Amino acid sequence: MRLNYYQIKKNILRARKLVVKATTLAGSGHPGGSFSMAEILGCLFSKHLKFDPQNPQWEDRDRLVLSKGHAAPGLFSNMAVVGYFQESELDTLRKFGSRLQGHPDLKCPGVEFCGGSLGTGLSYSVGIALAAKLDSKDYHVYTIIGDGESDEGQIWEAAMTAAKYKVDNLTAFLDRNFIQQDSYTEQVMPLDEKLEGDDISEMWKDASRWKTGDKWRSFGWNVIEIAGHRVEQIDAAITKANTTKGVPTMIISRTVKGKSIEHMEDNPEWHGKAPDSDVVPIINLELDSQFMIAPSIIAGDMTHLENEIKRCISGRANYIHLDVMDGQFVPNKTFDHTKIKELRPLTIIPFDSHLMINEPVKHVRDYIDAGSDIITVHAEVTDEFSFGEIHDLLKQNQVSVGFAINPDTELPEWSYKFLPTIDQLIVMSVVPGKSGQKYIEGTHAKMARLNSVLKEHHFSGYIEADGGVNLENIGSIFADGARVFVGGGAIIGQQDVRIAIRDFRDMVLKSRRRILLDKAYEIGGIDLVNKWIGLHVVGEKQEQIKKIAQEAGYI
Ligand code: DX5
Ligand code: ZN
Repeated sequence: MRLNYYQIKKNILRARKLVVKATTLAGSGHPGGSFSMAEILGCLFSKHLKFDPQNPQWEDRDRLVLSKGHAAPGLFSNMAVVGYFQESELDTLRKFGSRLQGHPDLKCPGVEFCGGSLGTGLSYSVGIALAAKLDSKDYHVYTIIGDGESDEGQIWEAAMTAAKYKVDNLTAFLDRNFIQQDSYTEQVMPLDEKLEGDDISEMWKDASRWKTGDKWRSFGWNVIEIAGHRVEQIDAAITKANTTKGVPTMIISRTVKGKSIEHMEDNPEWHGKAPDSDVVPIINLELDSQFMIAPSIIAGDMTHLENEIKRCISGRANYIHLDVMDGQFVPNKTFDHTKIKELRPLTIIPFDSHLMINEPVKHVRDYIDAGSDIITVHAEVTDEFSFGEIHDLLKQNQVSVGFAINPDTELPEWSYKFLPTIDQLIVMSVVPGKSGQKYIEGTHAKMARLNSVLKEHHFSGYIEADGGVNLENIGSIFADGARVFVGGGAIIGQQDVRIAIRDFRDMVLKSRRRILLDKAYEIGGIDLVNKWIGLHVVGEKQEQIKKIAQEAGYI
């Protein structure tokens, strides 16, 4: 089964917003640890867990044990997204009489474990996984433990037990966000190598120092180490864990506490504190402003595309943008699905296949089979019926649906009815056909027009900017509403792809910070601008944001 990338992303976003709403209304709760595990839970609930919200006690359901129970808002929000209860029930978080308390409780149908007494969830999980074996059931147990929680001796007792009894129907995740209640884990009780004198808020970025995996390996576990906010890595790790026999699996997930909200990220303060209601609109805008970088490999050496893929991997691209040209829809020819199939085993990074071909309806199946995660077809060569067919086929195959318009094409009226379920809209900012062309300035005005149509017709996907995107214009393209950025010449055409991608990200981040400051000013004037700046206390963020506010004339 393919990744269903955008659907998972959308569910994760919804869940994060619910966490913000619920903890704000409650005036307390644990957003930091809810956000560090957001992608893990999103991926489990959207794709891997077997469950039935109408029948929470279904015997054959998989069991999800949230051992780090304080992150309950993260669990409840996902349960709401998949239909265990109404999203509005999250408004009762931590209130008297609510099923949704500060820690998960069995009173709430679908909750498997009263988490909160840290250290106990893994032992409980070993028990229910063994019970499945005794009862000849084939359900799987997934457990999330925290890194602060790993200070508890009972975690290691459970580790020994699970290995001894070969509990291979248990997959645990370590939410390795490097922060526990009061401070960085490495200051309280190091799990990695001794790190005295380091800037600990920076150290997690250096993979050579991660030793936690060795501990679990030495206890006899199958260990998989991943970047815990990358949906495709989580997905692949779960798949691998489920096929590993004879040993339990630990997925060490390197995460960021408070992930997605800059002032919460990597800040121990946000372990257990709720946002103030006046900043919530700014936070929600920030959550809506996550972005992806998609290098286009045709801008590189067409005779060694394998090598271009490797450069994208080491540059930590979010997607790999694959420009398929057939020599008919556009004059050039690049490659077709056979090449994509050949490249597929090189990486699990989502393949973003942009089909610049005639009659895509006749070929789309081949591109699904080749392993594309997102497939985009052009408005100029589809109509209501052929696009409808493509749309349904992609959805059935868990492939994200993309629709593209050329610079001279307006969104056709027949496409409006598909807008709520289209995952990605490519707005071409060059005449398609080759990389290295200049961005067409009129695209900014087009985006403004488009935004109102998209809003009116409930588009909930992501806009991808394709053509002539570079460091000079990416900030304004982001401000126009684009959230995915294709980079041919400006990324793959550069010597160091990693630096090019990093620079792209930095420019978008700067633009995003400005937009958030504008929002703060719009709803709360200068006081809210100052409050927003004041929230950013980790590292250099505050100074950088101050500078942007000064340039904007706010302070
Ligand atoms: C244009 C393609 C683009 C292009 C991007 O036909 O769809 O993806 O290769 O390259 P740059 O960023 O160089 O315009
Ligand atoms: Zn493209």
